Amino acid sequence: MNHKKLKIAILGGTGNLGEGMILRLALQNIALEGIKNEVIIGSRSKESAEESAKQVLINLENLGFDTSKITITGNTNFEAAREAELIILSIRFDYVLSLLDEIRDELENKILITPVVPMVKEGSLFIYKAPSEGSAALLIREKVLPSTKVVAAYHNIPAAKLKDITKCKDVYDTIICSDDIEAKKFVMELTRNMGCLKPLDGGPLKQANTVESLTPLLINLAKLNGLKDLGMNFN
Ligand SMILES: NC(=O)c1ccc[n+]([C@@H]2O[C@H](COP(=O)([O-])OP(=O)(O)OC[C@H]3O[C@@H](n4cnc5c(N)ncnc54)[C@H](OP(=O)(O)O)[C@@H]3O)[C@@H](O)[C@H]2O)c1
Repeated sequence: MNHKKLKIAILGGTGNLGEGMILRLALQNIALEGIKNEVIIGSRSKESAEESAKQVLINLENLGFDTSKITITGNTNFEAAREAELIILSIRFDYVLSLLDEIRDELENKILITPVVPMVKEGSLFIYKAPSEGSAALLIREKVLPSTKVVAAYHNIPAAKLKDITKCKDVYDTIICSDDIEAKKFVMELTRNMGCLKPLDGGPLKQANTVESLTPLLINLAKLNGLKDLGMNFN
């Protein structure tokens, strides 16, 4: 990937996790370090995606950032995936298979990042509910073309912390798993300058089940102990 600006699609980028990802990727364009990029917000509705893109730019301007070097656009999930070189699947587990059916061919030879956590609520707590393949990441790898490089990342990052670009001073570890060594290295590099995040190599994709399963644990710990937006730090 030798392009000057990397085209990144965030499918479901109108949602909670998407917003923080968009902000942090976009800000790499005005930082000294970081992979320069253009963000395409994907949505089921082109209008919603365009509206989100407009809103993110307004929010950044209101916070005093110079947005002249930042490009954020909106489109349908399909068009966003078609246009981008790297795709982040920021939708809930229940919707993943139908979206992958729609965009499979558009992911050929591209990096696909999954932060998807399959979990269900039982009473007031969440439990991890992996599909029979072992994890969302392994299921996704089965459903895409062999040339698509699946990378599991960002599962344990609370969306609220990611969105908080002015106050977030904590650095959370994010464990990154993939069978494609180059793709994993690239995503670690992309993550290194997002602020708030420290990438850790988590090994091959078959390790992603452990990482995915930590998210319901974090949510339950927060609920049971009167805490908020817990992330992880292995230091
Ligand atoms: N939230 C977190 O703190 C967090 C942290 C780590 C990992 N994750 C993972 O990241 C993923 C996204 O989480 P999120 O909290 O951002 O989700 P979310 O806000 O609930 O939803 C994201 C987007 O999904 C789209 N969507 C809704 N229903 C859909 C459907 N039937 N088919 C296709 N798309 C649909 C919506 O976009 P449109 O209406 O614009 O299409 C929505 O904005 C999940 O897999 C989650 O496990 C979340």
